[in-house]
Amino acid sequence: MAPEKTLNDLFLDTLKDIYFAEKQILKALPKMARASQSEEGKAGFLKHRDETQGQIERLEQVFELIGKPARGKTCEAIQGILAEGEEIIEEYKGSVALDAGLISAAQAVEHYEIARYGTLIAWADQLGLTEATALLQATLVEEEATDSKLTELARASANPKGKKAA
Ligand SMILES: [Fe+2]
Ligand SMILES: [Fe+2]
Repeated sequence: MAPEKTLNDLFLDTLKDIYFAEKQILKALPKMARASQSEEGKAGFLKHRDETQGQIERLEQVFELIGKPARGKTCEAIQGILAEGEEIIEEYKGSVALDAGLISAAQAVEHYEIARYGTLIAWADQLGLTEATALLQATLVEEEATDSKLTELARASANPKGKKAA
């Protein structure tokens, strides 16, 4: 019989998943900033790139807290979400709807992260990992704030701009 897996295993596997994902996101954000037609969008993507660097460091602290090496595990979900983002950049290059598309791609990333961090926080809490819970919570706050800013940016400028003929 295979050894029984517990919530500890799930926690570690999911931590590796988001660690891999954050590193991919770190590489994708400068590309999204370059692609963005609006200055506000560019600045927003670059700011979140810096936050993402800090989030990776928090994850490394969580690995340390549970006495495991910081190691990523291929996350096909984030690879798919980021590939869709690149597809939008490619297919909407030079069009008025590019920024609306970019924001939608970025929000898919944020929602993936929000799902993962929400779960990790619940499990860390259940496992009595108080410090890890606080670190993960700090990141979740940043992901949620980023998501809200993207919603505002879409409503205030990218979506209306996207309707107009070039
Ligand atoms: Fe993140
Ligand atoms: Fe994020």
